[in-house]
Amino acid sequence: MTKSKTQNKKAKGIIIAPSILAADFGDLSGEIRRTEKAGADWLHIDVMDGRFVPNITIGAPVVKAIRKHTKLILDSHLMIKNPGRHIEDFANAGSDLITVHAEAVRGLKGILKRIRSLGVKAGVSIKPKTPVSSIYKVLDLVDMVLVMSVEPGFGGQKFMAGAIPKIKEVRSRFKGDIQVDGGINAENAKLVKQAGANILVAGTYVFNAKNIKKAINSLR
Ligand code: DX5
Ligand code: ZN
Repeated sequence: MTKSKTQNKKAKGIIIAPSILAADFGDLSGEIRRTEKAGADWLHIDVMDGRFVPNITIGAPVVKAIRKHTKLILDSHLMIKNPGRHIEDFANAGSDLITVHAEAVRGLKGILKRIRSLGVKAGVSIKPKTPVSSIYKVLDLVDMVLVMSVEPGFGGQKFMAGAIPKIKEVRSRFKGDIQVDGGINAENAKLVKQAGANILVAGTYVFNAKNIKKAINSLR
């Protein structure tokens, strides 16, 4: 599928990216359909390797399978050590955007340039204890900065308010997309948007909601 066909026209202003980590993996195509119908803009895909974070989740073959079921932007959040080894796989699988963790990478600039050279948007992410200053040097090489509002590795955790000043700091230096991920709900959504975030990831809040459409709209 070409990139233009995967662009979502609705995705102006605030972008809502449900994290499929909280979906029913046994019925992924049904969950994707449900999410798409409910008005999601992107799909956030949490890739974990059991090394950078304690859990193991999904890999590029699953992204490839998801690609066949949706035109939504596929946003691959790589919580893996040495992500450089797998960039091509995730690009070929149909990711529209690949985010790597600053803490997981040696030669961050090179990896970000490689992601872009594959025709995919590049993101860089920082964990709650990682200062924004550690990514100043790569801000001109990324399309998106992901500020984690929980320690990566698990869904369903509580939002850490320390993310707010970090989002503000990124916004003061960066004109691109700012994504926030972890413990997002309708209350803290307001705060992160005010701070300058424009892409909100939400797993538990969206997939556990009685009415998924309402949940997504309440984050906008
Ligand atoms: C955490 C993941 C998040 C998480 C979001 O490691 O990166 O995407 O699944 O889920 P909630 O919204 O449940 O915190
Ligand atoms: Zn994530």
